[in-house]
Formats: sequence, C-alpha cells, structure tokens
Amino acid sequence: MEDNFLPSFVKRKGRITKYQIDNLKDIGKYRFNINDSLNKNFNKKVLEIGFGDGEHLIKIAEQDTDTLFIGSEVYQSGIGSVIGAVKSKSLKNVRIFDQDIRNLLINITKPYFDDVVIICPDPWQKARHHKRRLINNDFLELLANTLKQDGELFISTDWDNYAESINETLEQNARFSLNKNSKYNNEFLTKFQKRAITENRKISNFFFKKTI
Ligand SMILES: C[S@@+](CC[C@H](N)C(=O)[O-])C[C@H]1O[C@@H](n2cnc3c(N)ncnc32)[C@H](O)[C@@H]1O
Repeated sequence: MEDNFLPSFVKRKGRITKYQIDNLKDIGKYRFNINDSLNKNFNKKVLEIGFGDGEHLIKIAEQDTDTLFIGSEVYQSGIGSVIGAVKSKSLKNVRIFDQDIRNLLINITKPYFDDVVIICPDPWQKARHHKRRLINNDFLELLANTLKQDGELFISTDWDNYAESINETLEQNARFSLNKNSKYNNEFLTKFQKRAITENRKISNFFFKKTI
C-alpha cells in the first residue's frame, strides 16, 4: 500500500456551526503526537477510526480515564464537536488525528494500540466504489502491524453487503482470529447506528483479536 490512498471518506458538505469553528481553532492542543511524553502516563491506547460526531469516543473516554483514546476523523464538524466535548468535560485522555488514518498507521513501526474500534465505516455501496472501502486486506495488514498481541479489533457496520465483505476479509486473514470475550457491546450507539435502527437495518458486529 502506498502513501497515496484512494479516499475512503466522502467529503461531507454538512453545516459547520460557530461553536465547532471556534473549537477547531484549538486543534493544535489536541492533535495526536506519537512522541508526546504524556502518552506514557496512560496504561492503554485505544484508536477509534472515523468517530463522526464522536458520541462513542467521548463516552468510552469518560468511562476509562487511564486509557488514552486516539480519535481519527477528517470531518471538520465532528472534530469541532469532539474538541468542544473534551473541553467541557475536562477530558485529559483524548487526542485527535485529523487526517486519513492510514497516514498515521503506515508510520507506526511496532505494535502500539491495545484496541482498534471502527463504527459504521463509509459503505461505498455501488460495486464500482467497493475499492474505496476502508476495510480490505491492505488495511488489515496496517492494523495488524500496529495492534498489540491479542489487541481487540471491533468493527460494526449497518450495511449487509459491507458486512459480508468484512466477514470474508477478516476470516481469510491469518493475523486476526475471532474474539469471544470482547469488551465492546454497542452500549453507546452512534448517530449512524441509531439511523440504521430507525430505518430497520441490521447492525453487524465483528469481534476479532490480533493473533500474529
Ligand atoms: C459513515 S461515518 C460514521 C461515523 C460514526 N462512526 C458513526 O457511526 O456515526 C464514517 C466516518 O469515517 C470517516 N473516515 C472514513 N475514512 C477515513 C479514514 N481513512 N481516516 C479517518 N476517518 C475516516 C469519515 O469521515 C466519516 O465521518
């Protein structure tokens, strides 16, 4: 996989509020830096990729203040909301990576994350767009290189067709195996998961762990 990735996200036009714009001015304080000496103060490091509006990221960060949560997103409104929530709740354990996550993963040379969470990755439903889907073999390789041994990979999708492809990709990947004791249980539903429920779409969850 090269440094130049086929975009896996849609440029969302969504409205951005003054609150979000003001918060975005502080991104420098919250941007993830792998060399920050403060990272060592945390027992664990969990990566959530594509946090959207950040509902799940903020809840898990509030629940476990000894873990550093690295949230990855490119959607500016969502990043602005998350910075706002981090500030108002005085959370010290949230950092943001505001580019395509693959630009971070390719530069991590040894296992770093305890868990990786991906909720409702963009489904790219048309067959000609499937190549843009984030979850593919190359991406799993990047995750396997950066996840610790037995580290959890939790993926949730609200599209059956993507679920089939995620299942097949994970089952064929020798570096991951089924995880029967996951700590992830959809306790905190995201905006896209709630929408799926309203639209009577099934949510499929994948609980895997990195084995090799
Ligand atoms: C369908 S939304 C789901 C958002 C949220 N997880 C939820 O469930 O409500 C997928 C999100 O993943 C983000 N995303 C997609 N590809 C990404 C990438 N390569 N790096 C970082 N974020 C990405 C998009 O910007 C988008 O906000």
